[in-house]
This record gives sequence, structure tokens and C-alpha cells, in this order.
Amino acid sequence: GSTEGIVIAIDGPSGSGKSSTSKGVARARGLRYLDTGAMYRALTWWMLDNGVDVHDSAAVAAAVGRPVIEMGTDPAAPTVSVDGRDVAVEIRTKEVTGSVSAVSAVPRARELLVSAQREIIDAARRECAGIVVEGRDITTVVAPDAPVKLFITASAEARAQRRSKEIRTGDVAGTQAALELRDKLDSSRAHSPLTLTSDTAELDTTGLDLDEVVALVVELVDEAAAAA
Ligand code: DC
Repeated sequence: GSTEGIVIAIDGPSGSGKSSTSKGVARARGLRYLDTGAMYRALTWWMLDNGVDVHDSAAVAAAVGRPVIEMGTDPAAPTVSVDGRDVAVEIRTKEVTGSVSAVSAVPRARELLVSAQREIIDAARRECAGIVVEGRDITTVVAPDAPVKLFITASAEARAQRRSKEIRTGDVAGTQAALELRDKLDSSRAHSPLTLTSDTAELDTTGLDLDEVVALVVELVDEAAAAA
């Protein structure tokens, strides 16, 4: 029993704390970390930067193969680049956040990124490293056979509070509205929507702080590693 090559799949809506949790767990157990949302954001940033109309799904589908997206999986310093340019800051703008659901609903975009994500997981496993992968379709599509599968949630209010702090805005109501709209789009799209399936454990983090959530998940990882 060890965490060698273990895959931890984590899904959940925006602001649920899944990124901070995933990074914390990966650091606590020496695992790699993959933020798949950052890949959809990087692709969206490139579309906007190159004048592609993100609401024209045929135009998006035709362009998805053009940018080269690379991810660094060290949880202490994860990186994301497009054509060699570090876009960590660019992918967090309002413009990208407002367009990413449209881009991520395009099947061709998902196919391409899912296969890139599986390659990153396979590369980690070839090095005998475990990896924490977070997103919206990790437990259902990207790594459905992962030994640890979690769906992390929190109330809309708690998520809006956390996200407002992160982006340093006093407009909690506006943040909550934007977040609920994005969740609705991500949960209702035709292709691999965000869904909680019966073989995935739900963890409601409302009222818990990050350290408590990380400790809970680390416990599940240790159990799975002991059973492996
Ligand atoms: O985790 P995030 O908020 O940075 O993700 C940004 C968007 O990317 C999210 O609104 C939906 C999309 N996404 C997706 O469709 N599938 C994933 N596995 C991860 C993110």
C-alpha cells in the first residue's frame, strides 16, 4: 500500500474550494496536481486573444488544435502556458471567466483537452507519482476508475464569499449571481456536464475551513493507498 501512481479525482462547482483542497492534499502526500479548469481557461484565453467568436461553436471547434497548452504539475507552483507564454494571470480575468463555459461546451474542445489530461496522468504514473486531478468531469469521464473520487460542494453563499475574497471584490451578490450562472451552464451542457454519480463521495465544505477539508481528504487518500 502506497500512493505510488494513485489517481485522486475531484469534481465540484466553482468556489467549492476544490482547487485549494486539491493542492493541499497533493502537497501533504507528495503527489502531482492537475487543474483541468486552467486548461479550459487557457484555451478560452487563446480564442479571445486570436479574435475567435467563442459563441460560434464551429469556429471554436476549427481552432482548438492551434494553441499548444502546457501544464506544470508541481502543487507548490503549478504552471500553465500557451505557446510558451505563461498565462497564469491572463486566464483569471473576468473576460475569460465569462467565456469559458461556452468554449468548454464544444465537444471537440473537450475531446482534445481530455486526451491531453489523460496523457498528463499517464506520464505521472509512468514516474510512479500519484496525482490529484480536479475539474468538472474527472470522476465521470477523465478518470472514472480512480480509487478516490470526490465531489466537493458548499452552499452558494459560502462559495460566493470565498470567491469574492479571492478576487478581492466587495460585490458578493454580483459574484454569487455570476457563479450560479456559470454552474448552471456547466451542469446543463449536453457534453460531460458537472454531475455527481453514485460511486463518488460528496463532501459539503460549508462551514469547514481548508485545513479541515484537506485533513478529511488526506484520510481518504491514505485509506485507498493502504488498500492498494
Ligand atoms: O475550475 P474553473 O472554475 O477554473 O473552471 C473553469 C471552467 O472550465 C468551468 O466553468 C467549466 C470548465 N471546465 C470543464 O468544463 N471541465 C473541467 N474538467 C474543468 C473545467
